[in-house]
Amino acid sequence: MTHDEPRFYPLASTILPMRSSDLPVPEPDARQASDTLQQRIRERILAAGGWIGFDEYMRLALYEPGLGYYSGGARKFGRAGDFVTAPQISPLFGHCLASQCLQWFETLPARILEFGAGGGELAVQLLGELERQGCTDCEYWIVELSGELRERQQQAIRALGGSLAARVRWLDRWPDRIEGVVIGNELIDAMPVRLFRVAGPQLLERGVRMDDDGFAFDDRRADADFAAQLEPLLAELWGPREDWPQDYVSEFGAQAQAWICELASRLVNGAVLLLDYGFPRHEFWHPQRASGTLMCHYRHFAHADPFLWPGLQDITAHVDFTALALAASRGGLDCLGYCSQARLLMNLGLLDRLAAISPEQLADYLPNAQAAKRLLSETEMGELFKAIAFGRGVEDDAIGFARGDRRDGL
Ligand SMILES: C[S@@+](CC[C@H](N)C(=O)[O-])C[C@H]1O[C@@H](n2cnc3c(N)ncnc32)[C@H](O)[C@@H]1O
Repeated sequence: MTHDEPRFYPLASTILPMRSSDLPVPEPDARQASDTLQQRIRERILAAGGWIGFDEYMRLALYEPGLGYYSGGARKFGRAGDFVTAPQISPLFGHCLASQCLQWFETLPARILEFGAGGGELAVQLLGELERQGCTDCEYWIVELSGELRERQQQAIRALGGSLAARVRWLDRWPDRIEGVVIGNELIDAMPVRLFRVAGPQLLERGVRMDDDGFAFDDRRADADFAAQLEPLLAELWGPREDWPQDYVSEFGAQAQAWICELASRLVNGAVLLLDYGFPRHEFWHPQRASGTLMCHYRHFAHADPFLWPGLQDITAHVDFTALALAASRGGLDCLGYCSQARLLMNLGLLDRLAAISPEQLADYLPNAQAAKRLLSETEMGELFKAIAFGRGVEDDAIGFARGDRRDGL
């Protein structure tokens, strides 16, 4: 892993080399669950002839029912978990996004479809703020892959009580026709990625095989389909083959692109707002970012070994926003804006909301001021995290992107 590039590790206080002995040891029952998952992955590798793509490994490690990181019992979020996301840092985050929804609801049905709702914090913040702003009939639908997180979301929503809680539904499958506002915060970075490696003249796919200690990376010649997808994209960025970096590893977010295409095919009348860490492609596949962006989070330590305790740690990759925008455009969606998280939140009034809290009420003001700094600061989440919006049948005047829109840099 290289340390020479500024990267953001959500709330990670320490970046470690890949030695499990440096990390807090999991509880025995957690280790046992991880052993069971490892056995499941081994069986999968054996059944596939000794090698699986990294995307398949990541899918199993994160989403294997009952055992994967998101679908099993890992604590995941918060101080006792592995990382913290923006809605968990402050309700100001969701309250700002509510202002953008209100503008879109002037012409769209008052309905939010949230993908990957984590602990349910954003849903609680949005519903509460929309109600306070007089939007008293907003329906809230959630699509969540993890049964364990769905239960946590249901608890959080139940605590809202009464009519607010009654507006929330969990969907087992995507609606055929989507109308309203679609939201995903830190959703795309949790989708499995394929890995590729450029090694001299060869284009390889980095997959996973078994070794004595567990699992190991194993590079194979990229199959014809994968090569045909990647080569023109890399040539567009890097020019002729002889000018390509000599040893380079990165990620290809095939699943994220398929997800946005699927969404585009069902979005009849609506806007999509996605927030995540990442870059436009020329920064993502920059020749100097030679070891990619794959990263793991375990108890607020960030490290680069996805084979440590499968099921007990998060595995994530930054988002290629250019790829998302191109896939959305192929599906007929308009790009309504692209900017840093800081810009989006300031455009949506985060500083005014902070100013409305009296500094004399220290117990209220100080945590909110601190949270605002984390959400906005360039050295924390403000710049590396971006917001992107797409739409069909929606005016291109989103208030969240009124200043600092960088669509032309995608
Ligand atoms: C990093 S967490 C973010 C959670 C929450 N949005 C937040 O900001 O706190 C990723 C979430 O996306 C969910 N997820 C990942 N892929 C998904 C998909 N294809 N459809 C629905 N949910 C998904 C995970 O189960 C998890 O809830």
